[in-house]
Amino acid sequence: MLYREDNLITLNRNLTYDYIITGPADFSELGIDTKDEQSYYDFMWDRFSLFKPKSGLVTLIFTNRKANKRIIHKQTIYNDIMFKNNFDLISEKVWVKTFKKDVVFRLGFVNILTYRHKKRERYNTLPIMPDCFHYPHKRGSNGFPPELISKFIEVVPGIVYDPFMGSGTTANVCHQMGREWIGSEIN
Ligand SMILES: C[S@@+](CC[C@H](N)C(=O)[O-])C[C@H]1O[C@@H](n2cnc3c(N)ncnc32)[C@H](O)[C@@H]1O
Repeated sequence: MLYREDNLITLNRNLTYDYIITGPADFSELGIDTKDEQSYYDFMWDRFSLFKPKSGLVTLIFTNRKANKRIIHKQTIYNDIMFKNNFDLISEKVWVKTFKKDVVFRLGFVNILTYRHKKRERYNTLPIMPDCFHYPHKRGSNGFPPELISKFIEVVPGIVYDPFMGSGTTANVCHQMGREWIGSEIN
């Protein structure tokens, strides 16, 4: 079920879902200047603090930003928000897009962080997965590799919610796996 709206509206619908897997929008997609980390933090706070997956599990997939000759560590922003909302960081993995030196994008790897709410500990152990996945970057694609998304979706039964749906990789994977899904996409 796709909600073509701001995910803040969807999150306030009090829908039931079991697992969140998503690629939070970057500064540029939100029209926020990379120098204005506070606005980015506030935007994510408003949304992440409404995350209520029944399993307690949330997976965030993102690349930190290179801007103004330094790295903006989105991971620090996400961790801070999630920790203040009672989530622990339970898994940290990397998707390597390229081993080449002359990368077309600014950072050649993507972080995959999974958090679990302290009070919802139904899933005490995650299956053993490699720490590092290598799926070559496809030119012109901003989407996630379906093979990667399916590995995470397999872990948690039930309804999957992706609040930043983008091109719809999560929905496509769920469809192929016969899984129910919810998505929000503003564009
Ligand atoms: C990093 S992309 C997601 C990529 C996606 N995982 C895929 O495989 O294509 C982030 C998406 O979030 C969307 N977005 C930004 N702000 C939003 C909001 N407030 N509500 C819903 N979607 C939003 C953007 O339009 C963009 O498509």
